[in-house]
Amino acid sequence: MKLNIAVLPGDGIGPEVTAQAVKVLKAIAMEFGHIFTFNKALVGAAAIEQTGSALPEETISICKKADAILFGAIGSAKYDIDPDAEIRPEHGLLGLRKSLDLYANIRPVIAYEDLLNKSSLKIKQIRDTNILIYRELTGGLYFGEKKLTNDAASDICEYSRFEIERIAHLAFKAAQTRKRKLTLVDKANALATSRLWRKVVQELATQYPDVKLEFLYIDNAAMELIINPRQFDVILTENMFGDILSEEASVIVGTIGLLASASINEKHAMFEPIHGAYGKFANKGVANPIASILSAAMLLEHFGLDQEAALVRKAVDKSLKLHITTPDLNMKYDNISTTKVGDFIEDFINNPEETNLNFKNIHLGQSTII
Ligand code: IPM
Ligand code: MN
Repeated sequence: MKLNIAVLPGDGIGPEVTAQAVKVLKAIAMEFGHIFTFNKALVGAAAIEQTGSALPEETISICKKADAILFGAIGSAKYDIDPDAEIRPEHGLLGLRKSLDLYANIRPVIAYEDLLNKSSLKIKQIRDTNILIYRELTGGLYFGEKKLTNDAASDICEYSRFEIERIAHLAFKAAQTRKRKLTLVDKANALATSRLWRKVVQELATQYPDVKLEFLYIDNAAMELIINPRQFDVILTENMFGDILSEEASVIVGTIGLLASASINEKHAMFEPIHGAYGKFANKGVANPIASILSAAMLLEHFGLDQEAALVRKAVDKSLKLHITTPDLNMKYDNISTTKVGDFIEDFINNPEETNLNFKNIHLGQSTII
């Protein structure tokens, strides 16, 4: 298969982790005889420095022409401490989501057996957690009209039936391929938008009689997600609630450094780790590249390259099992860098026979495969 992939490394740890994902995709292309071409583009603070805009026209155009986009991270402390800054790195990401109309953000939350003790939650509570969050990505508070003066400010939260229906259909369909349960998370006891979500989703449910539909208020869902995450299959929610819930869910996994995501519509698809730019940790080799690598696996799945994605996932599982992980996971070895994790996963894809692994030398970084 030929794929033209736009690569937007962005800020902070974005470039380091994205480089590992690109490496992995190149190994997959080689192994399976695909032709993937990569086109780099500027976004975020990196783009502001060079062009004055967080989302240059050229970047939008490269993304529109691409089959898929691999996104790193954006954000910079310089802008975070200045609430009056008009040009902000985040516009690079939010503007891209909006201009490509990437309305469905899909965030899998999977508790890896080998990492259960990395979560601050109890193992018996989180074992076998497997949740798929469908977060609406182009509406709500993020994109409503904004006003800001010295004395007052407002963000409008607005949703149309159309915006709710299109993502709800995707979430129902996803549930049909899983445990056939869909939980709509909202705040219908306080918000009009949430009441519309409930109404529309309830109406659509008649088209999916095999899916069990449940409703939870966001405050309650935030608690249930920690107490009993196994009760969830597919979660559907609006933009802001989805942002918060998905980051909370990373506690189940043990590190946000493992959470991948896809942002899609019928025409475009972007893949990105859910973590941010973490400028403080940039260029230190400590950033976990797995969220970005798993985002690349989601990219492959998006194009029906399931065998390819399965090999990436197998390589990731292996790296976790062998503790070839960055310091955020605080496993057996503490000297394994972002690049080394990427190298191991790349090596495994090139040579997936487990018998070839040289277990002894792995932690020394001397060689991963003999
Ligand atoms: C995310 C991020 C973004 C969001 C920020 C960087 C604007 O937190 O993708 O979850 O809030 O959507
Ligand atoms: Mn977030």
